Amino acid sequence: MGLLDGRVAVVTGAGRGIGRDIALCLAGEGAKVVVNDVGVTLGGEGTGEDPAATVCREIEAAGGDAVPNHDSVSDFEAAGRIIATATGAFGRLDVLVNNAGIVRDRTLVKMDEGDYDAVIAVHQKGTFNTVRHAAPLMKDAGYGRIVNITSSAGLRGNFGQTNYGAAKAAIMGMTFVWALELGRYGITVNAVAPAGLTRMTENLFGGAEAPPDQDPALNAPLVAFLASEQASYVNGQVLGRTGFAYTIFQTPRQVAAMWRDGGWTPAEVADHFHEVLGQHLQPVGMPAHPLLGKKDD
Ligand SMILES: NC(=O)c1ccc[n+]([C@@H]2O[C@H](COP(=O)([O-])OP(=O)(O)OC[C@H]3O[C@@H](n4cnc5c(N)ncnc54)[C@H](O)[C@@H]3O)[C@@H](O)[C@H]2O)c1
Repeated sequence: MGLLDGRVAVVTGAGRGIGRDIALCLAGEGAKVVVNDVGVTLGGEGTGEDPAATVCREIEAAGGDAVPNHDSVSDFEAAGRIIATATGAFGRLDVLVNNAGIVRDRTLVKMDEGDYDAVIAVHQKGTFNTVRHAAPLMKDAGYGRIVNITSSAGLRGNFGQTNYGAAKAAIMGMTFVWALELGRYGITVNAVAPAGLTRMTENLFGGAEAPPDQDPALNAPLVAFLASEQASYVNGQVLGRTGFAYTIFQTPRQVAAMWRDGGWTPAEVADHFHEVLGQHLQPVGMPAHPLLGKKDD
């Protein structure tokens, strides 16, 4: 018995890296999988490669069911065909994992409009596109599981990633909105900030061999759980992976308030800011090692 026996899943960008491992894991848990991947370079240029077909063969070799799809998530009509591939091949859609991604890192003053638009189109618009097509089917079925892949770059900020950080923060925002809107219909919507050595992160290790806790496959079991019936009580959450740990992010919320009857003048704000809100200033960016306090056995 697998966590996903009888379920049908779509995983976008599943031909390589983290998405490939998610597709293999969902199939291993019994789901029939649409392996979507347009087969582009890290920056989004066409290659003629067909990683989706390769992953389908791997799933089938392991005894699972999978069909490839080569449409781009960034095109609204094409995204509809990705979802239709699930219903056409397997008759239903239970799980959607929005994982497809590209990067075009530049500092803000060097980033041109094309680099901004291309990254937004795949991550932010692409996530809207697939969910917009999938949600009505899930609503009619009274059941659905949506997992959106976000990143600390958007949740906390990361140098050189204006476009990517904007898109990944938008994915967090859409996750909250859709959790509210779709939760009423038995559909959960959660976000996961994964980690792992893929072509997207290979520069982080400067060519050195990555440590075992950077295996991109380590993200997939959490996604498989969120995609299962058992996770019905988890909705609108942002989860993550660091090392061998799964983590949960705090939803942004007000942590302090300064209040004055009738409001403030700018000079009054300047006089009082430091002693009240100024005591709660927070660092931005990714911490060097967020597992502070982790106990070694
Ligand atoms: N690698 C990490 O440490 C890390 C950290 C945080 C978030 N992420 C996110 O995880 C996801 C997977 O990243 P990865 O590291 O596996 O990258 P990857 O480059 O190995 O895989 C991404 C896949 O998406 C496909 N793709 C790109 N544009 C597409 C489109 N328009 N339509 C369909 N498929 C498309 C690519 O062909 C590629 O196979 C991305 O959303 C990424 O932003 C990765």
